Amino acid sequence: MSSENLKQEYQALQEELRSHNYRYHVLNDPVVSDYEFDQMLKRLREIEADHPDWVTSDSPTQRAGAEPLDKFTKVEHPAPILSLGNAFGKEDIRDWYERIARLDDRVRNTDFVVEPKLDGLTVVLHYQNGVFTQGATRGNGEVGEDITENLRTIKALPLRIPVDEKGTQPPSRLVVRGEALITKDDFEKLNQRLEKEGKKTYLNPRNTAAGSLRQLDSRMTAKRPLTLLVYAIVEAENGEVPNTQWESLNFLRQLGFPVSDASQQCKTIDDAIAICLDTDPDSFPFEIDGMVIKVNDLDLADDLGVVGKDPRGAIAYKFPAKSVTTRLEDIRVNVGRTGVITPYAVLEPVEIGGVVVRQATLHNFDFISEKDIRIGDRVLVKRAGEVIPYVIGPIEDVRTGNEVKYTPPKTCPSCGEPIMNPEGEVAYYCTNSACPAQLVRNLEHFVSRSAMDIFGLGINLVEQLVDAGLVNDIADLYTLTKKELLRLEGFADKKAANLINAIANSKSQPLYRLITGLGIRGVGQVAAQDLADRYRDLEALSQVTQSEIESIEGFGPNIAESIVEWFEIPENQEILRKLKTNGVWPVEEPAEEQCPQPLEGLTFVVTGTLPTLSRTEAKDLIEANGGKVTSSVSGNTNYLVLGENPGSKYDQAQKKNIPILSEDELKNLIEERTP
Ligand code: IVH
Repeated sequence: MSSENLKQEYQALQEELRSHNYRYHVLNDPVVSDYEFDQMLKRLREIEADHPDWVTSDSPTQRAGAEPLDKFTKVEHPAPILSLGNAFGKEDIRDWYERIARLDDRVRNTDFVVEPKLDGLTVVLHYQNGVFTQGATRGNGEVGEDITENLRTIKALPLRIPVDEKGTQPPSRLVVRGEALITKDDFEKLNQRLEKEGKKTYLNPRNTAAGSLRQLDSRMTAKRPLTLLVYAIVEAENGEVPNTQWESLNFLRQLGFPVSDASQQCKTIDDAIAICLDTDPDSFPFEIDGMVIKVNDLDLADDLGVVGKDPRGAIAYKFPAKSVTTRLEDIRVNVGRTGVITPYAVLEPVEIGGVVVRQATLHNFDFISEKDIRIGDRVLVKRAGEVIPYVIGPIEDVRTGNEVKYTPPKTCPSCGEPIMNPEGEVAYYCTNSACPAQLVRNLEHFVSRSAMDIFGLGINLVEQLVDAGLVNDIADLYTLTKKELLRLEGFADKKAANLINAIANSKSQPLYRLITGLGIRGVGQVAAQDLADRYRDLEALSQVTQSEIESIEGFGPNIAESIVEWFEIPENQEILRKLKTNGVWPVEEPAEEQCPQPLEGLTFVVTGTLPTLSRTEAKDLIEANGGKVTSSVSGNTNYLVLGENPGSKYDQAQKKNIPILSEDELKNLIEERTP
């Protein structure tokens, strides 16, 4: 056969295999047997062996995995990969609806899409001119890990988007978001096989899918029965993309992506609620942990904006908890950061929804006595979403008489001091402010990632420092010396120097992190940021009155009281004094309120490739100058920043008569508006 004819055969075979792969893994409607498919693939491999230069990354042979990697590289997402707010019942859904309807009238006329909330691993897939070029995990929402080689092994993932019958090309650049998962059936089969082989079985499909995709060796990933469902277009360039969620799902389906057919479009929020409540998760072939309700109009969804990491335009309805019964083996207590003593149940290990549960919370001591929970009882335990499992109550009918009534401890299990139960409160406290357990919890919180973020200082080390008497409060961390650390077990020169360094570096953390780290009841990162913005240093914050704090939006009387109380405690004043002496005294620079930001009040959309700035750099530049960047063009867009090969946003902006800026013009605009 001439080389030309062979190449033709090769290309035809590729097309045919692609189409059978799609029919089998996406449509679940194969038209050839596995044997026939394997024969064709074998032939393709033979041709490729003779003509390695013909092989492209989207060849059907390229799904078997590649050489192992040393580590995953980072991938910056083109737009934030947001999370979702939760609703646990119809009231929560209604509250969400009313909240967004108050923000924007258009919500009252929009329709919704209700989709299954897939319990897998979020993936972000990049296509250039229809070819799959890169795939990433969600990571922190801004930057994920490059798992391209692993994703390539998923047969339901198109390695190439076929050109349709009309010859329509897909957008030149397309970024799609979806969830990689393992079906319940495939998971069962996988475990049966592992069991037969005498190997360790997996606990649940989600963790197996996530673990398989985090393999550095993609040949291992190829052995796992992973599949995929996509549900959103993150970004598209050069090509019309739909402006409703419902059409986006259809569009993705037409392009050859696997899209769940369980999604429904509905006219009103009542219909959406009814779908959520009527859905039985057990009727799905894969695990879902809820339903997602999305505002169908994507411009409106975009305009509604984001709270934290959750877009306002969508909400996840979580199914009610799963429950099982097991034996309560013991009741033990934990000492919290504020000295609160809470009981927890030690359980005979039991599986709930694919997770083995060994402990569950018992809420408080009143709960134990009200429910008459006894050690040895069979108890009903629930687990819902990511929350800690909790005990519902005993099953009294099956008592044997050997169960033992429980009495709360009189003394703190950590320091041995008496436990207090203030009148009218359910909580029991250890009031010894020097209690090591409290101190450990306090320090643990202070050094944690949400507070001072001191790298390398984990719970074991914190315990070691407290046990050795080297640290009696958070401020003592800053007077630790290398010599002291070297006396501790497991410390060598390098480890000691690293820790001292990490602690010293934390002195330059911003004020809100220090405020968070103080562990004032009710003051998390968000409240701490508000306080830091307003008071700028701990000196000013320590002087505030309760009514002053209550006048800040979002601060109620309880949190105001706990802030004032914290600063009144002499031990805490001493901690502040020590922090200041040791140079742990961040001061928040005044916000640039006095001088308005050049782009304040303006909303931008960036599209196409700019001459010098990457899209993220352009976004950072706009935001650093007080402007807002959204991902789609809407009535609120003031300017479109246009680069080469723009997407449909350019057409949309033109239709709406939105002024267009080049990169240079954007820079000029900033300059002109800078006072
Ligand atoms: S939409 C702005 N739709 O659930 C878009 N997310 O708990 C926000 N998830 O991080 C996400 N199924 O990874 C969306 N049908 C679905 C989903 C879904 C599963 C994941 C998603 C998100 C997480 C939030």
